[in-house]
Amino acid sequence: MGKKILLATEKPFAKSAVTGISEIFKKAGYEMIQLESYKAKEDLLKAVADVDGMIIRSDIVDEAVLSAAKNLGIVVRAGAGYDNIDLKAASERNVVAMNTPGQNSNAVAELVFALMIYLARGAFSGKSGSELRGKKIGLQAYGAVGRCVTPIAKGFGMEVFAFDPFVPAEAIQKDGVTPVNSLEELYQACDYISIHIPKTKETVNSINFALLSHMKKGAALINTARAEVIDEASLLKMFADRPDFKYGADVAPACAAEIAEKFTGRFVFTAKKMGAQTEEANVNAGLAAANQIVAFFEKGDKTFQVNK
Ligand code: 3PG
Repeated sequence: MGKKILLATEKPFAKSAVTGISEIFKKAGYEMIQLESYKAKEDLLKAVADVDGMIIRSDIVDEAVLSAAKNLGIVVRAGAGYDNIDLKAASERNVVAMNTPGQNSNAVAELVFALMIYLARGAFSGKSGSELRGKKIGLQAYGAVGRCVTPIAKGFGMEVFAFDPFVPAEAIQKDGVTPVNSLEELYQACDYISIHIPKTKETVNSINFALLSHMKKGAALINTARAEVIDEASLLKMFADRPDFKYGADVAPACAAEIAEKFTGRFVFTAKKMGAQTEEANVNAGLAAANQIVAFFEKGDKTFQVNK
C-alpha cells in the first residue's frame, strides 16, 4: 500500500531538491505532503498525525512530535548531525531514525574557507590582511567534512593536520594530512582550527578555555559544527584575554551580541545555519533521504540507521 511521507523543512530546500524528492515518492506510489518554513511547533504536530515516514533537516523531532506521529515508521534527517532527533524516544516507538552521511559535506567544507578568508582579510575592512597560503589548518575530527576540507586547503597551499581518535593514523596520512596525538598538540600547531565533531553529551561545552588557550598567536577558530560544542564563558574569556584571537562560526553563539559589542572585526557569524544551504547539498541530501525511505519500506533496508 502507498505510504504517506512528510517533508518537514523549517529551512526550505532549493526547489530542484523538492522536485527530485517528490518524483522519487511518486515513482514509488507514495503520497508526499510538505510543511515548509513553518513557525509553530503546533503545525508540525498536526502535519505528522498520519504519516508513515518523514524527511527533516534541523527540525526538532522530540517526544511530542513522535507521540503525535502515530503511524511513523521512519524519520530521515537529510544531513549529517542528528542531535535534533530524540533517538531514545524513537527507539521506544520502533521508529527507525537515519541520517544521510556525507551528502552535504562539500557545502560545509566550502563554507569553512569563506569564514577563514573573511577573518584573514580583516573582515573586508580595507586594512591589510593575510593569505591562507603557507598557513596550517588543524581539523578537529576527520570525518566526511574534514575529508572534503583537505583537498581545498591543499589547493590554497595550506598544510593540513588532524586529530581524530576514531580514525587510524594511516587513513589520515594517506590523504597527505599529518595526524597529531592530542587536541592540545593540534591547537598549538595550527593557524586555523576547524571543528568537525558532532554534538553529543560528551562534546557539548568540550572546547573550553584550557584547550583554547593552547592556540597559536593570531590563530582563528572556525566552527561549522554546532555552536554548543564550545563553552561560551571560555569563548568570551579567550576574546578578552587574547586580542589576537578570532572566531568564525556557522551559526552564532548565544553570546553573539556581547562579542559584537566588544570585539569588532574579530568574528563572523552566519545569521542562520548556512553550511549545507546550497542547491547541490539540498539535492544530494534530500534525494538520498527519499531513496532511503523507499528502500526501507520496500526492502527493509536499514543502512544508515542511527538508533540501533
Ligand atoms: C548537518 O548536520 O547536516 C548540517 O548541520 C546541516 O543542517 P541543515 O539541514 O539544517 O542545513
